[in-house]
Amino acid sequence: MNNPVLTDAQSHTDTLKKQMRDILKVQDVSKTFKSGSREVNVLSDINFSITEGEIVAIVGPSGSGKTTLLGLCAGLDHPTTGNIHIYDRDISKLTEDEKAAIRNEYVGFIFQNFQLIPTLSAYENVMVPLELQGHSKLARERARELLDRVGLGDRMTHYPSQLSGGEQQRVSLARAFCNNPKLLFADEPTGNLDGDTGAKVEELHFELNKEQGTTLIIVSHDMELAQKTGRIIRLRSGKIISDQPNQNQ
Ligand SMILES: Nc1ncnc2c1ncn2[C@@H]1O[C@H](COP(=O)(O)OP(=O)(O)OP(=O)(O)O)[C@@H](O)[C@H]1O
Ligand SMILES: [Mg+2]
Repeated sequence: MNNPVLTDAQSHTDTLKKQMRDILKVQDVSKTFKSGSREVNVLSDINFSITEGEIVAIVGPSGSGKTTLLGLCAGLDHPTTGNIHIYDRDISKLTEDEKAAIRNEYVGFIFQNFQLIPTLSAYENVMVPLELQGHSKLARERARELLDRVGLGDRMTHYPSQLSGGEQQRVSLARAFCNNPKLLFADEPTGNLDGDTGAKVEELHFELNKEQGTTLIIVSHDMELAQKTGRIIRLRSGKIISDQPNQNQ
């Protein structure tokens, strides 16, 4: 027989869950790349939803489609089939300009290969998202504060070519945080960092989640990092092989 106390608690949890909105919904997504005359199917049958405030790790072997999936979810590329909603907007149906507007408003992205603008200093790179929204004064303040927080207060005027890999990674992180995104995609955010710096950067992600309720979707090879998240999605050969709450949390 059902325990009435437990049933009550469960229904309370269910109600709370219903009150939280899905910030990302991926439905029947596949992605095929054309390479010469060949077609390479990189993702298939991808389905999952993410609720506001969740911290989710995406793990899987090299080449399993993690970066491709993140790019699709952030509207940087379009799926071959399926739909991707950020809140109630189907980004797979939007024009490039409309997608850029959604990205500016909601999304931060930390790229595996940084993608900093080589002709801008670290400081200017970090300001870009807020500058695009016309908030120049705020952009200057946030850029300074964030570069300090990632330990690069003394490297602000350096250009990307004058920074080490790990330093560029941290500039990329500061840039992604600049407009307080509701949804942050981080592709191997600690991949190029030494233990101490990696730990600081990791902490910064979790702080952002606590302070601002930022939803975090983190791709990582580092299972120690993945184990600190609330849910782990495993990819293999372009398919989700498991999607489970993290038992260690
Ligand atoms: N533009 C492209 N054209 C053709 N194939 C591509 C393209 N981009 C990615 N691929 C292929 O898609 C597969 C998945 O690549 P992806 O970068 O998503 O993997 P990943 O899981 O992020 O790997 P890693 O852990 O090494 O970063 C790879 O086999 C890659 O060669
Ligand atoms: Mg990748």
